[in-house]
Amino acid sequence: MKPFILVTGGTGYIGSHTVIQLQQKEYPVVILDNLSNSSPVVLDRIASITGNRPAFVEGDIRDRDLVRQLFRDYAVSDVIHFAGLKAVGEGEAEPLRYYDNNVSGSLALFQEMEAAGVFSIIFSSSATVYGNPGYSRFTEETPLNPVNVYGDTKKMVEDILRAAKRAQPVWQVALLRYFNPVGAHVSGMIGEDPAGIPNNLMPFITQVAVGKREKLSVFGNDWPTPDGTGRRDYIHVEDLASAHLAALNKLQGGESFLTVNVGTGRPYSVLEMVAAFEKASGKTIPYQFAARRAGDIAECYADPALAKTLLGWQAQHDVNRMCADSWRWQKNNPVGYE
Ligand code: NAD
Ligand code: WQD
Repeated sequence: MKPFILVTGGTGYIGSHTVIQLQQKEYPVVILDNLSNSSPVVLDRIASITGNRPAFVEGDIRDRDLVRQLFRDYAVSDVIHFAGLKAVGEGEAEPLRYYDNNVSGSLALFQEMEAAGVFSIIFSSSATVYGNPGYSRFTEETPLNPVNVYGDTKKMVEDILRAAKRAQPVWQVALLRYFNPVGAHVSGMIGEDPAGIPNNLMPFITQVAVGKREKLSVFGNDWPTPDGTGRRDYIHVEDLASAHLAALNKLQGGESFLTVNVGTGRPYSVLEMVAAFEKASGKTIPYQFAARRAGDIAECYADPALAKTLLGWQAQHDVNRMCADSWRWQKNNPVGYE
């Protein structure tokens, strides 16, 4: 049997889509997730989409005994490390919890990988590591200067992996810096299911469309952008998932260190996203302009050239598909996985 791919955070939004693609490529998968921001129902949905239920270990990446036992129970070749907390505002309010979960948790995982002789890792980093460089098109050379705790945890984990690689060349590392993931599996069975009031634009829009929220607040209409609203590089979660398979392929082919932006290279404004969603769903999204959100920037998008050169990967799905798939998921699951 082929060795397992350990997917931490594999019942979460991006992890679940990646697990499906891994299974469709015949990789055996074991998920480690503490279910702090996901539901075990995801496992049933993955099983019905792929015909194959991934192995699942419920637990925390900080639980060293559990992680050690996992590496004894499963022959793991590579780790895809999604597990982490990701709400920017929450990170500002509870920095110690964020550093503990994201940084200490990753350190514990990496040390147990080392002890088990597993040295191949794909890490979920974020465009947030760049902060606000004063220009909008971010390359991998854009200086790392996170402006919030969440972004700092991502940079710290990147630093740890860069140092580990320098000291022990046996490590194989892919740092994938995601831009703004949206969309859902085309089946409408797997998607983003945020707890409480969504922080991010797309889940807020879908919850307005399904009647769960009254209207969208558009954070600022005076940004220096063509329509005055913030512009971001939205990327379909299926494209994001396939970037992980491309990175895995590279690592398994002997590549030793990759740092890659994962985006489309094409930004859309908030109002353009609202219009695209209305077109894809046939729903009207009422909105009001509100004050700028603290910490926001006007615009950012990926220079996706390196992903194409290094991984042979580029995004396939356009904004209409992103909106149509987000809507199908929300419409079929008005209360998420509950
Ligand atoms: P998610 O919250 O849906 O998934 C993360 C999963 O990790 C959840 O299932 C959660 O239960 C689990 N988890 C959290 N802490 C854990 C711990 N200590 N031990 C075990 N499991 C734990 O988030 P997502 O959107 O799928 O994001 C996945 C990764 O990608 C995260 O690291 C996130 O920071 C990163 N990322 C996300 C975005 C985005 O906008 N969604 C953008 C850039 C980077
Ligand atoms: C997009 C645009 C908002 C909500 C965040 C994290 C980042 C990454 C992705 C993990 C902005 C506007 C939003 C709303 C709005 N996550 N907006 N009304 O801020 O680019 O990135 O998620 O790594 O770290 O910071 O994404 O979806 O929150 O916002 O007008 O109710 O939509 O101001 O212009 P963001 P977002």
